[in-house]
Amino acid sequence: MNLINFYNKHKFISQGHYFDIYQQAFTEYPTDWIEFITSSSDEIVDDFASALLNNTISDSFPQSLKEWIKDTKSMYLDKQPKNIKELDINVKFVKHKKMHEIKRLGALVLDTMKSLNVDYIVDIGAGVGHLTNVLSEHYPVIAIECNKELSNQIKKNDNVIIVDKYIDKTNLISILDDIKPTGTFLLTGLHSCGDLSSAITLDAFKNCDRVKAVITVGCCFQLISEFPKSNHFKDSIQLTKAQLNSACHVYSDFNIPRLNAYWKSLGYRARLNEMLNLDLGTKLRFPSNVTFEQYVDIANKQLGTNAMPTDGEKYLKMIAFISLLRSVFSPVLEKIIQLDRLLYLQQDGYEAKLVALFDPILSPRNMVLIALKT
Ligand SMILES: C[S@@+](CC[C@H](N)C(=O)[O-])C[C@H]1O[C@@H](n2cnc3c(N)ncnc32)[C@H](O)[C@@H]1O
Repeated sequence: MNLINFYNKHKFISQGHYFDIYQQAFTEYPTDWIEFITSSSDEIVDDFASALLNNTISDSFPQSLKEWIKDTKSMYLDKQPKNIKELDINVKFVKHKKMHEIKRLGALVLDTMKSLNVDYIVDIGAGVGHLTNVLSEHYPVIAIECNKELSNQIKKNDNVIIVDKYIDKTNLISILDDIKPTGTFLLTGLHSCGDLSSAITLDAFKNCDRVKAVITVGCCFQLISEFPKSNHFKDSIQLTKAQLNSACHVYSDFNIPRLNAYWKSLGYRARLNEMLNLDLGTKLRFPSNVTFEQYVDIANKQLGTNAMPTDGEKYLKMIAFISLLRSVFSPVLEKIIQLDRLLYLQQDGYEAKLVALFDPILSPRNMVLIALKT
C-alpha cells in the first residue's frame, strides 16, 4: 500500500485529543484490540512497551494487531546510516552524542563546500556553536542563534560572524545580503527546530540564487507552521498539532517510568473530565506524583467544584495502550514530514536526497536533507 493510502486508512491512531481519546478508541479501534486490552491485566501495558522496545510481540496479542504493527513498520524510513569518513576531531566537554553528530554532519558539510566551491557556511539555529566552532576552522561561518545566552557562548574568531536575531521566512535572505553582499552560501543546521529546517531554509534555497546548498537535520516538528509544502501531499494529508508532536517520538526514547507518570496524568484528567462533564483541556496544572484524591482536591479548589474522587484508574490502561499504539505510528508521521520536504525541492527539479546520517539509537532524529545546485 502506498504511504498516502496507508496514512489515511490508519490516521485515527494518531488523531484526537488525548483527554478524550479513550472514547474515540471505543468507536474507531478494531473491536478485538479493545476487547483484548479491556480483558487483560494492568501488566499488559508494560509488557507491550517492553515488546516494542525489544522488537518482539507475544503470541497472546490479537493477530490483527500484530499484523498492523508489522505493516506499520514496513512503512518506516530506513534510518540505518551508511559508513562515511567522519571528521577526526575531539572537542573537550562535548557530549558523546553531539560529538558523533558533529563529526558526521561536519564531514558532509565540508565535503560539499569543497566540491561545490561555496564561499560561506550559514549555521542556522547554531545554539552554543558546537558545529560552528568546528566548521569555522575551515570556512567562514555565519552563525544564527536567537537566544543570546547561547550565542554568547559561540567561540569568536576571524572566521565567525554571530547573528543573534530571530529569523523567519521574510528576513533570512536580507540578513545574509547585509552581511555578505557577494558570494555564495551553504545553509546548514543541526536539529534546527520546526520551520528553521523547512519553510525558512528550503524557501531561501529556492528563492535565492546565492544559496547553493542545503544540508539540514530537522527536529521539533510540532513547531512547523507550514505543512504540507509539497504538491504531493497538498490535497491528501493534513497533520494536526498533536500529530506533528507525535512525529518527534520514537521507541528508543522510551522511558517506562516517565511514560507511566505521563499516562497517569492523562488518565486522571480523562476521568476528571468525565466526572465534571467538561473538557478541562490543559487549563489546570498539577504537581507530579499526586494521588487521584489529591488531584481532584486541587481541581475542586481551582474550579470551585465539589467532585468526589472515585475510580481514578478507570482509563489508565486504555490511555497507556493508545499512547503506545501512537508511538508505533509516529515514524510514519515523521516519514511524511521528511518526504514532504524532499518532494517540495524535487518538484522544482532540484537535486535533493534524504539520508540517514547518525546512529539512530544515539541520535533518533538522524535524517539529513541535502539539496544542491550543481
Ligand atoms: C535544537 S537547538 C539546536 C542547537 C545546535 N544546532 C545544536 O545542535 O546544539 C535549536 C536552536 O535554534 C534556535 N532557534 C530556534 N528558532 C530560531 C529562529 N527562528 N531564529 C534563530 N534561532 C532559532 C534555538 O534558540 C536553539 O538554540
